[in-house]
Amino acid sequence: MKDYVCEPLGNHHDRTQFDCGVSVLNDYLAKYAKQDVKRKASAVFVLVERAQPKRVIGFYTLCATSIALAELPEVLTRKLPRYPEIPAILVGRLARDVNHPGVGALLLSDAITRCVRVASEIAASLIVVDSKGEAATRFYEKFGFISLPNLSDRMFLPMQTAEKL
Ligand SMILES: CC(C)(COP(=O)(O)OP(=O)(O)OC[C@H]1O[C@@H](n2cnc3c(N)ncnc32)[C@H](O)[C@@H]1OP(=O)(O)O)[C@@H](O)C(=O)NCCC(=O)NCCS
Repeated sequence: MKDYVCEPLGNHHDRTQFDCGVSVLNDYLAKYAKQDVKRKASAVFVLVERAQPKRVIGFYTLCATSIALAELPEVLTRKLPRYPEIPAILVGRLARDVNHPGVGALLLSDAITRCVRVASEIAASLIVVDSKGEAATRFYEKFGFISLPNLSDRMFLPMQTAEKL
């Protein structure tokens, strides 16, 4: 991570050249991310190279969410509290620029570390990601995220597992 910094999106960041190959994610960063931050809909974190600190090469969003206990399988609920809604943190829209392959792991590690840190003050039992497509699913599986048959796009990582990573 010494050549990179992951930090909150600021006014000085150049978002216009970012291209992850998925237009909906490029558009989100260019047009909607700042609004979301302002309205407290999502916190947006960007990855930059120390050598080019304005140019965004990756990003992800974080927001609070909850998952109905009844939607989760026993493999997950065994270690969860028996409340109808389970507090969670959603890591949304994680993406890196096509010219910077290999920084996806840095982005997700930063997101997981941040979730663990935040959850020590505002509890959350799960980290949730929306995995759009087979490639993203394989990527998240590498980090221990679990897919559920009845919630095909969502994947989960218990916070207790994240703490050990
Ligand atoms: C998904 C994405 C972030 C992965 O970024 P990346 O820079 O290619 O990821 P990394 O190279 O750091 O990969 C980390 C690990 O995941 C694995 N991985 C990454 N993509 C994979 C794939 N499609 N299939 C299998 N494994 C994959 C890597 O091999 C690596 O494993 P290793 O450490 O054992 O070598 C990137 O492809 C991307 O931005 N895609 C477009 C946006 C998107 O789909 N985001 C996710 C859903 S919103």
